[in-house]
Amino acid sequence: MLTASLPIRHVSEFSAEVRESLTKPGQRELPSKYLYDEVGSALFEAICVLPEYGLTRADARLLEKYSREIVGRLPSPIQVAELGSGSGKKTRWILEALSRRQRTYYYPIEISPSALAACAKELGQIDLVSVVGHEQPYLEGLRTVAEGRGERDHLLVLFLGSTIGNFDRDAGEEFLSEMREILQPGDALLLGTDLEKSIELQLLAYDDPAGVTAAFNLNLLARINRELGADFDLSSFRHQARWNRVERRIEMHLGSMCRQTVHVPAASLRFMLDEDETIWTESSHKYQAEEIPEMAERTGFRCDGQWIDREWPFAQNLLIAG
Ligand code: TRP
Repeated sequence: MLTASLPIRHVSEFSAEVRESLTKPGQRELPSKYLYDEVGSALFEAICVLPEYGLTRADARLLEKYSREIVGRLPSPIQVAELGSGSGKKTRWILEALSRRQRTYYYPIEISPSALAACAKELGQIDLVSVVGHEQPYLEGLRTVAEGRGERDHLLVLFLGSTIGNFDRDAGEEFLSEMREILQPGDALLLGTDLEKSIELQLLAYDDPAGVTAAFNLNLLARINRELGADFDLSSFRHQARWNRVERRIEMHLGSMCRQTVHVPAASLRFMLDEDETIWTESSHKYQAEEIPEMAERTGFRCDGQWIDREWPFAQNLLIAG
């Protein structure tokens, strides 16, 4: 079964957010959620198979190896919601393990229609699994799913790929607290977190020699050109990945290689960038394994299990709503 709620995305919302973030006093920014249009989602899929980006493979290896064990710890019956489904490949292991014991509803929540379609195609075929996509922001979608559940149903929320790391630390905890509010005691959250490793490995993961990550980042400007009629000259911007040792995060920027003026007609915006001035597009925070149970406690969960990949330090954390 395959249905999707209607998209309520407008050019006006995109242009308003672009305008606000590009005109922020101090550091200019762009919202990272707009990286994932059809081209961006395809480039991100390519990033996930780069030898330098070990994160996705570590995430998938843990799920392949431990899905049965993880599912064994969950209450019954349980339905699955996933925040940011991506293509859905990693989720297969969990759904297959669950569908051995019950019919399972799977609700991917995702603002990218192309990712949602890819995910429904990948996972819609599994026996005893029904896919119902929600094209909504994460918490809005989760609220819809939680309100629509059967009286006896528990919920398992999947938040994989270390997407939590794309929030600032405080905002990440706030997000976990808001998620907890939507859930019932005993509901579960499987949270993927990328762990700190050598700075060299971390930088390579976000600035690969073949330039796939650079293309992914630059596509955000190309998308603004396509959808908002802007005139970013992509050849005068350079992708940069930096390690911020105080915040313990990788920061992605687009650096202007010269002094230049940019117009974004749909946002009624014209601004000037200095040579070497950057637009900050994304952060990816890295964690110590011990931090996760502490975060869980502060946000109304308890950490019931943690599984760590040794090849590429990464943790799956099973949090249970208290
Ligand atoms: N969630 C991914 C991460 O933090 C997103 C990502 C990977 C990304 N590579 C990127 C975002 C490059 C912007 C630019 O690992």
